[in-house]
Amino acid sequence: MQVSAVAHPNVALIKYWGKRKAAGNLPAAGSLSLTLGHLSTRTEVRIDGGLEQDTLSLNGSASERDLPRLRDCLAPLRERAGNASPVAVESANDFPTGAGLASSASGMAALALAAANALGVAEDGELVGRAAMAGSGSAPRSLFGGIVLLSIDESGEWRCGSLLAPDEWPLKVAVAVTETAAKAVDSRAAMELTRRTSPFYSAWLEGQDADLEEARRAVEQRDFDRLAELSEHNCLKMHATVLGARPAVVYFNSATVECIHRVRGMARAGVPVFFTMDAGPQVKAVCLPDALDEVAEALRSAPGVRQVLTGGLGAGARIT
Ligand code: DP6
Repeated sequence: MQVSAVAHPNVALIKYWGKRKAAGNLPAAGSLSLTLGHLSTRTEVRIDGGLEQDTLSLNGSASERDLPRLRDCLAPLRERAGNASPVAVESANDFPTGAGLASSASGMAALALAAANALGVAEDGELVGRAAMAGSGSAPRSLFGGIVLLSIDESGEWRCGSLLAPDEWPLKVAVAVTETAAKAVDSRAAMELTRRTSPFYSAWLEGQDADLEEARRAVEQRDFDRLAELSEHNCLKMHATVLGARPAVVYFNSATVECIHRVRGMARAGVPVFFTMDAGPQVKAVCLPDALDEVAEALRSAPGVRQVLTGGLGAGARIT
């Protein structure tokens, strides 16, 4: 049985940083993201009783490192299907992998969807979401298109879905790639270090529900300025929390900082644009459609920027 799925990475405007408990990989708080239509992960899952063990090929090379995460994702699906046969997984990204472009989100969303179909358990959307989350806490968001909310209540019950479809508020995103090598500290290790050692972590968590609620309202009202202010605040607050860890994790390089200043300069001059960065040095500039060319050009000419990938919001994960 062989099934392929495509998923897009997503960029969080209200970030997930820190886990509630290890089991199920549940984030400590909710998050809100944009699904990026111009970047894709394609994943093929083949269930093969003849294999001795699971195998994973990532961008054409065998990857042992990501096998535990793959098995975490598959576990709830295998359990429901009552089928523990080994799988051969081939996954490829059309963008830099492991460099803060959310490849784990699109990878785990595509894997969960393809594997659920291959195992015959895909009709339960909640189960597919749980499998994606077991692989990566940001992955359930890549199952959905447009602007996506993942909310979690106090008891740990969570739900994820689109707030707006891509065409309901056609925001654009220019991704300034400032580094193509994989990052030094992956987000999972860095968020655990932050939780354990940063004096700012509790303040970070305390603010999350309020930031999320305000962002949800800004999205509903298509209030760009409000979403811009809040997204930059939430992003820099996350990075400040990570900078407070011991040892500190510094995801920015000099081109990241240059891009931040360029985006702020444009915004001061009245261009509808704001920035956000995840666990890596890439800068994602979010803007209204008419501003995209100007924003992309300003980032492209910044010293240290290798390329700028532009596009709009994309659909959720799907079988191909
Ligand atoms: C900064 O989802 O990659 O991108 O659950 O350990 O796989 P794991 O972490 P991951 O962390 C994402 C962190 C972030 C913020 C976000 O996407 O919300």
